[in-house]
Amino acid sequence: MAYNLLKGKKGIIFGALNEQSIAWKVAQRAHEEGAELVLTNAPIALRMGELNKLAEECNAPVIGADVTSNDDVQNLITKTMEHFNGGVDFILHAPAMSVNVRKGIRYPENNYEFTHKGFDISALSLHRVLQFAMKNKAINEWGSVVALSYIAAQRVFPDYNDMADNKAVLESIARNFGYYYGVENKVRINTVSQSPTRTTAGSGVKGFDGFINYAEKMSPLGNATADQCADYIVTLFSDLTRMVTMQNLFHDGGFSYTGVTEAVINQMGE
Ligand SMILES: NC(=O)c1ccc[n+]([C@@H]2O[C@H](COP(=O)([O-])OP(=O)(O)OC[C@H]3O[C@@H](n4cnc5c(N)ncnc54)[C@H](O)[C@@H]3O)[C@@H](O)[C@H]2O)c1
Repeated sequence: MAYNLLKGKKGIIFGALNEQSIAWKVAQRAHEEGAELVLTNAPIALRMGELNKLAEECNAPVIGADVTSNDDVQNLITKTMEHFNGGVDFILHAPAMSVNVRKGIRYPENNYEFTHKGFDISALSLHRVLQFAMKNKAINEWGSVVALSYIAAQRVFPDYNDMADNKAVLESIARNFGYYYGVENKVRINTVSQSPTRTTAGSGVKGFDGFINYAEKMSPLGNATADQCADYIVTLFSDLTRMVTMQNLFHDGGFSYTGVTEAVINQMGE
């Protein structure tokens, strides 16, 4: 069901790779709510061609940008502002990648070259996007930026590896930049900490099946799906949440505040 929550609003969606991607669902929901979109992903992801389907469905241009490149991010912002003839009202940040996770290198043995790359893509990229957006006055007053996070920023989940550090920094950047952008232009910046979700990035984490089943049992409402995450994020892009900023918002069916559930106790007793 659509409520016209984003009618007249314009936004950039990073990180839609395929139909499983959280960003893909956010783009679909934002479009349904009346928003006009620009879609972006790394040039290598665009070569897979999947994003064209979403672009057609949402009637949105695709502009390639590697989020680790200043030139790419500047070009994305310039072209987006040309396309919309002005600034945007919202941005979804969803790029993430860890080479250490991909190569199965345990946290204590992390390779720092890989760590730097993952940090650049998964955390520093939020700062880069915000810095270039601010310089170019690319986000309209009362605009909203949402980045996606995970509870490994607060608590230890061993196989989440160096992505835990990346998420902790991502949340910190949202808080700190949220201060400056709030004062400068009333732009709000939040992170949404989502349940484990079956996507390309999510499934790359070792032992993901066990991980997702455990979270399901530990959440009074069960795991939140990517579609439900998209529902939540469109409210954060809407004018109904104008005074929420610098927050890490858990969207996890209650997982973050649950000590233990009867389902888990029963299983432990078996
Ligand atoms: N899936 C989960 O369990 C889960 C849970 C909580 C948070 N998140 C977060 O949600 C966000 C979206 O991930 P997803 O699960 O939808 O997976 P996904 O694999 O669909 O999305 C990750 C995206 O990052 C993009 N990306 C990688 N390197 C890039 C670069 N250099 N420049 C630009 N884009 C780049 C990929 O192309 C891809 O589109 C991520 O921040 C992820 O950490 C995921």
